[in-house]
Amino acid sequence: MTERTLIIIKPDAVQRHLVGQIISRLEGKGLKLVAAKFMQIPEKLVRQHYAAHKDKPFFAPAVKFMTSAPSLLMIWEAEGCVDMVRRMIGSTFGYEAQPGTIRGDFGCSQRYNLIHGSDSPESARDEIELFFEPDEIVDYELSDAPWLYSKRISPKK
Ligand code: TYD
Ligand code: MG
Repeated sequence: MTERTLIIIKPDAVQRHLVGQIISRLEGKGLKLVAAKFMQIPEKLVRQHYAAHKDKPFFAPAVKFMTSAPSLLMIWEAEGCVDMVRRMIGSTFGYEAQPGTIRGDFGCSQRYNLIHGSDSPESARDEIELFFEPDEIVDYELSDAPWLYSKRISPKK
């Protein structure tokens, strides 16, 4: 099923000039970019975004990090993209994340872990609503979609 996921390229990745390399991975995988905005995220929004963690000891430092410099927020779309992107991102701490994943290849920190991706279709819906207005999401077709999903290609006569 077509899903959307909220991706945040976090302040450390922007400062470390990794934006292009991270986007390349998502693009190369065949995901469709449907919205993007570059902003220093206001504290109120970060607190809402990480509300599930509000009682954890890392909540305050995580909020401080996420509001410390600009981030690139995007919505990407594809069949099953929520899980797929989580696997591409890798586990939470860079020093534990598998090589081949974004966190595993570009970082070794606990908190400065480069990228956020929604962890379920439900949280993706909430997170997208938090950061984007409906008219900021672009509806269009990717011309190579039939090749990506091996669908809608007529057999050779
Ligand atoms: P979490 O939702 O557990 O991780 P993920 O981003 O993989 O879904 O945690 C949210 C963010 O909080 C995480 O990306 C980095 C930060 N964090 C810490 O700084 N210390 C910690 O011990 C944990 C678990 C998370
Ligand atoms: Mg999470």
